[in-house]
Amino acid sequence: MKTVLSGMRATSRLHLGNYFGAAANWLRMQEEYNCYFFVADLHALTTDHDPSALNHHAKTIFAHYLGLGLNPEKCTLYIQSDVPEIAELYLVLNMFANKGELEKTASFKEKARKKGQSLNAGLLTYPVLMAADILIHRADFVPVGKDQEQHLEMTRTFGNRFNHVYKTDLFPEPQAFAYSESLVKIFALDGSGQKMSKSDHNTNNTIFLTDSDDEIRKKLKKAKTDKGPQEKNSPFTQEIKGLFELMTGVSSPETLQAFMADYANCAIRYGDFKAQLATDVIDFIAPKREEILSWQSDEVRMKRIAQLGADKARESARKTLNAMRDVMGMHYFKD
Ligand code: TYM
Repeated sequence: MKTVLSGMRATSRLHLGNYFGAAANWLRMQEEYNCYFFVADLHALTTDHDPSALNHHAKTIFAHYLGLGLNPEKCTLYIQSDVPEIAELYLVLNMFANKGELEKTASFKEKARKKGQSLNAGLLTYPVLMAADILIHRADFVPVGKDQEQHLEMTRTFGNRFNHVYKTDLFPEPQAFAYSESLVKIFALDGSGQKMSKSDHNTNNTIFLTDSDDEIRKKLKKAKTDKGPQEKNSPFTQEIKGLFELMTGVSSPETLQAFMADYANCAIRYGDFKAQLATDVIDFIAPKREEILSWQSDEVRMKRIAQLGADKARESARKTLNAMRDVMGMHYFKD
């Protein structure tokens, strides 16, 4: 059976981008594959150092996984730092990553632009830690959104370099995965073309899975639109493309088609369009929100699941490290 791995950074809360880009695929994949899903708390350390915030966010994201329907009997759910084997693989993979290529990574360049001088080495080697997450279980598929494509490419590069140097086929080439034709990108509500993001300072741009009905309505009311199509069959502008993308996820095909036809005929009224979208987003999110909040208040159950998950993940991780140490000549003395 093929192995699947994916994770989300322990920051903030999950939003519709995380759902459609990743979680929706995870829910289907747990039925078909040997799946590992984890909360990336070590990755959060590249930008945040507030212990109580980290603690809260890691548990919050874990509660989201369970509330959305990831089932610990079908997949392995854990918190990254509970599996210290990942850190050892990260160290080794660092020897196969070049400073130049790390500096050219899009996510690093974006952070560098925003943060200026205060860049730590962990931020630079973010893709190496991500490669360790993936290669520790020798994963075949990695269900992620479009923004993670480059990191996947780098994972393959590091794994291949290791394989080449040690003349082994220890690490497979993991592929990004989505059930849709291409990887998904959900846009921020300001029409900027930026992805919807947990770290967007303007929370009006992001619809979180735990937003109240009222918040959802307000955010969509404020969502940026344009002047409206001036000619029949005009292509979507960025603003409208983002909103139709959301509608594709949450509304019925009939509703979607009706508004698409209105757009094509220049008959669309954005007020009605956004009101319908708000209703459908609320119907979509409300039951998930209840489940997530209920898990969040059940720390005893979450603790048990996280412990079990960590045990299973460590068992798989140890096998990989053992094989790795073997090919590297790191088993020094006979029993
Ligand atoms: P993170 O926490 O930023 O996002 C988690 C997942 O959600 C997807 N995603 C989106 N998809 C579509 N549209 C959006 N607007 C959007 N925003 C986020 C991301 O693509 C991701 O799949 N580096 C990763 C966490 C990570 C990881 C890994 C993932 C660490 N190690 C190993 C896979 C495998 C991250 O920051 O995701």
